[in-house]
Amino acid sequence: MKIGDALKRASQILKDAKIETPITDSQLLLSFLLKKPRWKLITDRNEKLPEEIQLQYFLLIKKRAEGYPVAYLTGKKYFYGIEFDVEEGVLIPRPETEILVEEVLKKLPKKDKVHGLEIGIGSGNISVSLLKNKSNLIMTGVDISDKALQISTRNAIKQGVIDRFFIKKSNLFENIDKKLKFDFIISNPPYISVEEYKTLSKEVKKEPIEALVADKDGLAFYEKIISFGTKFLKDNGFFAFEIGHKQGEKVKKLLEKKGFRSKILKDLQNLPRVVIGEKND
Ligand SMILES: C[S@@+](CC[C@H](N)C(=O)[O-])C[C@H]1O[C@@H](n2cnc3c(N)ncnc32)[C@H](O)[C@@H]1O
Repeated sequence: MKIGDALKRASQILKDAKIETPITDSQLLLSFLLKKPRWKLITDRNEKLPEEIQLQYFLLIKKRAEGYPVAYLTGKKYFYGIEFDVEEGVLIPRPETEILVEEVLKKLPKKDKVHGLEIGIGSGNISVSLLKNKSNLIMTGVDISDKALQISTRNAIKQGVIDRFFIKKSNLFENIDKKLKFDFIISNPPYISVEEYKTLSKEVKKEPIEALVADKDGLAFYEKIISFGTKFLKDNGFFAFEIGHKQGEKVKKLLEKKGFRSKILKDLQNLPRVVIGEKND
């Protein structure tokens, strides 16, 4: 079978399975197996596809048709211009989260040493991106999931920032030294309500439910992080959260109740996506 014919057949399988981007996904998976850029598949479309690759390819296409995200099949996802390893069991970094990274980078001082804390590091995408862009930054990062700890450690090593990223297993603040004070606390916590989870696609449901769903209409983690985190912040410290687009005002209120000045920032689709809370004193 030729490359061009394999792509045609694969994208038809994905189309029949109601995958939204059948052509892109069939190209991405073949380009991953052949280690060729996507454009090269088109110029090489009359080349024969080795039998072994053909078998592997249609196995991947079958999994994709079942709803497995492309990133779990290739084991890679780009975030903030950096290639991250991902695996089933860890949340796939989302482009919306790049805004949180961007906003925090803008707020950090140019020269002074800064120590940040991330709650729920997942693949390590947020902390690693911050660390790669700020050499005066040290991050402590926690997660409750062993898989997240393993993958984030691997990403920090690959990106050469492991010496400034202290990764720890912890249920929220439980294992964080009570004497530590941070310049900021950042989190993209689970924020999908139990009700909303039921409406999500089969693709999103391949990701770990513990990384997505939160009680109290999706607000439970913000409540806990703000309530317990305040004493871990320095006097001029701040919180930075990713939020669901309907949660802006509610998270803002939670922060203001604790005496923080807060503002909501929008994403490229003009939807509320980030809330920053600064200490008032
Ligand atoms: C929405 S994901 C964010 C992952 C990553 N930071 C990102 O932006 O892609 C939330 C993360 O919080 C972690 N998590 C859930 N409950 C936690 C808890 N009680 N303590 C610490 N981490 C928790 C999950 O394992 C998951 O990795």
